[in-house]
Amino acid sequence: MPRAYSRPSTDIAEFQKLLKHSDRVLALCGAGLSAASGLPTFRGAGGLWRNHSATSLATPEAFKDDPALVWLFYAWRRHMALKAKPNAGHYALAELAKHNKNFMCLTQNVDGLSPRAGHSPDMLRMLHGNLFDVKCFDKQCGYIEPNNLRDPLCPALAPASEDYPADKTMPLLDPKQPTPKIKREDLPQCPDCKRSGKTSLLRPGVVWFGEALPDGMLEEVDVWVAKERAIDVMLVIGTAAAVYPAAGYADAARKRGARIAVINPDRSARAGLTSRDFHFEADAAEVLPKLFEGIIGKLEIPDQGK
Ligand code: OAD
Repeated sequence: MPRAYSRPSTDIAEFQKLLKHSDRVLALCGAGLSAASGLPTFRGAGGLWRNHSATSLATPEAFKDDPALVWLFYAWRRHMALKAKPNAGHYALAELAKHNKNFMCLTQNVDGLSPRAGHSPDMLRMLHGNLFDVKCFDKQCGYIEPNNLRDPLCPALAPASEDYPADKTMPLLDPKQPTPKIKREDLPQCPDCKRSGKTSLLRPGVVWFGEALPDGMLEEVDVWVAKERAIDVMLVIGTAAAVYPAAGYADAARKRGARIAVINPDRSARAGLTSRDFHFEADAAEVLPKLFEGIIGKLEIPDQGK
């Protein structure tokens, strides 16, 4: 019997049953997935870095104007991500990938927590790149250092890697304090360009606003979404779904009959959902292990040390 109202279901048991009978499952993840690991989201509370909106620093133009400021922002994010640990939400998704070969996970997160939770790279697409890839700002050059975990990345960026007790504000995060003065030549330089007598800066290997997604990734995802067998369930986890092309996948999946499950503590995230869909108004780290329990069993989190 269909429900007589159009609000999405919040029934965990009903979702578990649906997932058990589903074959193709697509997830789109955002910053909310890593919130329980202590990493700030982009929009809403915590969306400001000093007095800059996080998104205003995520452009090639911002980097050209003030590479030291943009590097400090990313150096701080690298440091935070390295200190953070994957949470139960990352582990639950990684487990689901082990149990369902027709599960594809798209993440907008660049923090590397999903790979660190053991999420198979074949079943995970990092749409917005990776904080730990460092590449030449000059696109023609193509130099890239994958998975560079050095912290601080260079001595000039050390102020972004300082640890302060919780009751003290880190000077770098206090807009009343000036940002450290860093000369351009003290920022990370591209070694390949240097060898050919040019000077180019290295930059974080993330996708900035106005830039294309990594080569071939969009096409690959489009092919997966458009396969003959339609997607049964689309999970939208911890994302404001405000940035395209990522945000378009839920619509594309729904048009082909998928049921949508939104996992987001913000009630407004249920906009556009119908009674066929689900909204779990909760922390992703808390609810994902429950939602997947029928498939992955009781989630066991490996000892992550100190
Ligand atoms: P946003 O900061 O826009 O949205 C985070 C979402 O997570 C919000 O809808 C929150 O309500 C939700 N949320 C917060 N805590 C949560 C929790 N514990 N569990 C589940 N959900 C929670 O982040 P994104 O949607 O990821 O792009 O942002 C998308 C892209 O915009 C980012 O990848 C980045 C940004 O600008 C680029 O830098 C290109």
